[in-house]
Amino acid sequence: MDNLLVTGGCGFIGTNLIRYLLDEAPFAGRVINLDAVTYAGNPANLQPYLERGDGRYSFVEADICDAEAVGRVIDQYEVDAICHLAAESHVDRSIRGPAPFVQTNLIGTYNLLEAARQRPDQVRRFHHVSTDEVYGSLGPDGLFREASPYRPNSPYSATAAGSAITTPRAVAATGITIAFSGV
Ligand SMILES: NC(=O)c1ccc[n+]([C@@H]2O[C@H](COP(=O)([O-])OP(=O)(O)OC[C@H]3O[C@@H](n4cnc5c(N)ncnc54)[C@H](O)[C@@H]3O)[C@@H](O)[C@H]2O)c1
Repeated sequence: MDNLLVTGGCGFIGTNLIRYLLDEAPFAGRVINLDAVTYAGNPANLQPYLERGDGRYSFVEADICDAEAVGRVIDQYEVDAICHLAAESHVDRSIRGPAPFVQTNLIGTYNLLEAARQRPDQVRRFHHVSTDEVYGSLGPDGLFREASPYRPNSPYSATAAGSAITTPRAVAATGITIAFSGV
């Protein structure tokens, strides 16, 4: 893994993941952060890595709903692995206005998967970070397992569930290693 594309790297988890990769992890490759800088993103958090000038961090402001831009970035940076965190992720916002959730979480995820699927000899790993909210709500007790049935109960979790179901099926035949995690 030499050139890792992190989507949503200006968000809460993405920013911390990139800091970890560049400062602590046993990872010697490059990180390319692709983020549309919505209300949730702040590229300034990672500005010091650009200023360090060692070439290990690049930032591209782009929307994962723009399939051409996604393909261009993957080709330009010779991306061989993708860690996908870009999402609309705020439950209350999804109830007030689901449209961006449908676009980013479903169409955007599809664009990334399709770009990977079209480059099976280049993109070898795809890790989709999603949410345990796809399983619905727990009472005071209990736990979810991977095989628990999906019971999403907001546009946020429904679109996250839709993208999670799409992920393995879309690339199963290509030999790309798929990982899926819900935090
Ligand atoms: N933070 C949590 O506690 C939590 C809990 C459960 C699951 N998750 C999941 O983890 C992932 C990351 O969460 P987070 O908290 O870092 O999210 P966040 O909202 O803090 O950040 C999302 C990032 O994605 C970017 N983005 C949004 N739409 C985009 C688009 N169309 N194209 C490119 N970039 C776009 C935003 O600019 C932002 O930088 C999401 O899938 C989320 O559902 C997070």
